[in-house]
Amino acid sequence: MDFEFIYAKIFVMYNITPSSGIKAELNIPADKSISHRAVFLSALCPQKTKIYPFLSSDDTEATLDCMKRLGVSCYRDSSSQDNLYVQGKSLYFPKEGEAKLFAGESGTTIRILTGLLVGQKFSSHFSASTYLSRRPMSRIINPLSEMKANISGNRKTIQGKENIYPPLMIEPVPQLVGKEHKNKIASAQVKSALLLAGLYAKGQTIVEEPHKSRDHTEKMLKNFGADIKINNTTITLTPGNKLRPPKEIFIPSDFSSAAFFIVLGLILKNSQITIKNVNLNSTRCGLLKVLKRMNADITIKNQKNAVEPYGDLVVKSSKLKPTIVEPEEIPAMIDEVPILCVAAAFANGRTQIKGVKELTVKETDRVNSMLVNLGKAGVGIAKKYYGQDDLKIEINGSRNYKGGEFESYGDHRTAMSMVIFALTAKGPSSIDDLRCINKSFPEFMKIVEKIKKDED
Ligand code: S3P
Repeated sequence: MDFEFIYAKIFVMYNITPSSGIKAELNIPADKSISHRAVFLSALCPQKTKIYPFLSSDDTEATLDCMKRLGVSCYRDSSSQDNLYVQGKSLYFPKEGEAKLFAGESGTTIRILTGLLVGQKFSSHFSASTYLSRRPMSRIINPLSEMKANISGNRKTIQGKENIYPPLMIEPVPQLVGKEHKNKIASAQVKSALLLAGLYAKGQTIVEEPHKSRDHTEKMLKNFGADIKINNTTITLTPGNKLRPPKEIFIPSDFSSAAFFIVLGLILKNSQITIKNVNLNSTRCGLLKVLKRMNADITIKNQKNAVEPYGDLVVKSSKLKPTIVEPEEIPAMIDEVPILCVAAAFANGRTQIKGVKELTVKETDRVNSMLVNLGKAGVGIAKKYYGQDDLKIEINGSRNYKGGEFESYGDHRTAMSMVIFALTAKGPSSIDDLRCINKSFPEFMKIVEKIKKDED
């Protein structure tokens, strides 16, 4: 069992050998999306809120750093680093002078927090690291501007796409106004930015989505006492209610992180993996439905509810069948498409994953990163444009693959997907750089190493 570091240039090359089967019970870190939102909303109330367990990762640390710069105190419990306390302010942060904020690589931080900043009485300068500085911001700037927000950014053309990119400049305005938004893409970051801006607006803010994206912001706003009505894909926020935090916010484990080990348990022979306390919000676990259609042996146990539903997942090795994923299924599994590609590579026959255009504007173009990596290992995989302007991935699965020399493209979900693939390939593999995994799941490689060690 050989994990071995090869220090090459500035990268740490990681070598991975196949596994022969895993029996494990895992605890996965807290949900990233809910961790960000718990901090944003707690910051708006003058009380102290306990958030536990809070995800410690590069992205959530970026949110905490922004909060510190906005004068909101967030601190950890000396008895348990998992407990985060937020001593909030009020709807209006008492900040003087320009706020200089840095989102690192966290799209959720820059996009959702901008929705709060447009209502403040001070200016903000919001910058980002390399990959995030190449991700489109017009999707929040345009609808927020319709609410009379004053945001500007770096207008340029990247890979043929003209858009506005970070850094963003946000100037205070006398009064935001509520608007009815009909969003063209299902994006929880866009929806959340609009709803948070709606807290500062005159009149109602209505957001209609083409398909339901993750609804953590709506659930949490409701839990904080906001006047919010949800009618399928339409959400109406009426400003004016005083926000009151619950004393404590419990955050279940991140389904998107659990997904890597769910797929590992299915495609690896002689395996059974139990994953404890996983968030089972239906707007997040679309992958479960698709995997079940593919003949996956997954059982849910000990279901509970604490604003968000959660439970234990028991996954057993399964002979997967191919499937067709329709575009309307994608929003509930937007971050799981890379690992679904890995599962599909082990399903005997042709799987189609339709409606994946949004994947091209994630941390990297994930259609491309999975095509290149799985292609290197001998998986039959192709992308095809279809309809007006959409994209699908086709994968011809079998069970036997050699390993490969994989690239993370600086993307955590590509990197983790390829580690899982490497564990099930027939030969050794390497991956160029795994530091990007710290964005969402810093313990990932430790868990992989532990379950491999237990197998020896
Ligand atoms: C997120 C929403 C999704 C997802 C991202 C986290 C969130 O992005 O891909 O990882 O926390 O709201 P989009 O809103 O761009 O779909």
